[in-house]
Amino acid sequence: MSETAKSRAAALSHLRRGRLAKGDPIPLPLTMAAIFHAPGDATGFDQYGRFSNPTWDAVEHMLAHLEDAPCVAFPSGMAAISAVFFGLLKSGDRILLPSDGYHTTRALADRFLKPFGVAYDVRPTSTFLDGGFDGYRLAFVETPANPGLDICDITAVAEAAHKAGAILVVDNTTMTPFGQRPLDLGADIVVAADTKAPNGHSDVLFGHVASRNEDIIAAVSGWRETSGSIPGPFEAWLVHRGLETLEVRFDRMCASAEIIARRLENHRAIKGLRFPGLESDPSHNLARAQMERFGFLISFVLASEDKAEDFINNCALMQAATSFGGVHTSAERRAKRGDAVPPGFVRLSVGCEPVEELWQAIEASLDGVSG
Ligand SMILES: Cc1ncc(COP(=O)(O)O)c(C=O)c1O
Repeated sequence: MSETAKSRAAALSHLRRGRLAKGDPIPLPLTMAAIFHAPGDATGFDQYGRFSNPTWDAVEHMLAHLEDAPCVAFPSGMAAISAVFFGLLKSGDRILLPSDGYHTTRALADRFLKPFGVAYDVRPTSTFLDGGFDGYRLAFVETPANPGLDICDITAVAEAAHKAGAILVVDNTTMTPFGQRPLDLGADIVVAADTKAPNGHSDVLFGHVASRNEDIIAAVSGWRETSGSIPGPFEAWLVHRGLETLEVRFDRMCASAEIIARRLENHRAIKGLRFPGLESDPSHNLARAQMERFGFLISFVLASEDKAEDFINNCALMQAATSFGGVHTSAERRAKRGDAVPPGFVRLSVGCEPVEELWQAIEASLDGVSG
């Protein structure tokens, strides 16, 4: 982790310190309120739960500290992505999406943007630069892409997109601000599902938009207030608590993923292994240049659907679950969600378990489906 990331991590749990009055609770109080005391002039304070809430403010303050940019919180990652699309696009615009990223982003464009006159095209993440960005209002990348873990060069895409007059949105869900810093690499907007590693305990959905452009922040805040796509205070409170341990969890998860990926490389049951931290990975050089860590996701292919299911279901230290980034290791056979991957394709999310115990459980389950 770079020095800046370390100092950002160190300050994270003390952000409230400067705002405390004598006798205030040190942990964040949860404010459950739809209405606030509002006599007289109706400006400059919390008034109504669709406009603002002190618990959101606190979590947004933490996210802004991590992103080094103003942030707007949303009730899920998809709500954050929707706010960018519906807050910034208008009929007649054309956008570019990854063909191999999270499938619901494409579904959103297809089912809800297209009927409003916003056209979209798709491109693979690994060749996202090919073809340029002329005619696009917005380019959206996810790197590493979920689930295939291909990567694209954020700096190069940002430069080319800007030259063509497009803005660049990066879905940074797979990396978190501790793993990759798209705004520093030239992106205009970061969106993320804090449902994953930032909350980390798989008990809440949440998302945010980060941008250093005040017009963009005003547009997505306006969308939130007007559409009512607001996070619940309790969810915000849980994410605030999750963020306090993000750095330590993320560090453990990434370190364990590197160890496990290296061992998987030599296992006879595994084909098509992808982990950006492996020297053999096609994205490794770019990953070294643009990512602070290599992440906690690993993907690979087992011989068949049954073998992949058995591997996941028979591993004592693995949850069979969609999503990723939780403290518990989890895995999913992604073909069952409709991703264009082989039937035996597994996306593995490495959790916080001690790595030797975790590896023993993974190896035992893999040995059970080998041969
Ligand atoms: C890369 C990525 N972006 C966005 C989302 C959407 O997040 P949420 O489920 O919180 O709406 C997901 C969910 O899996 C995801 O993987």
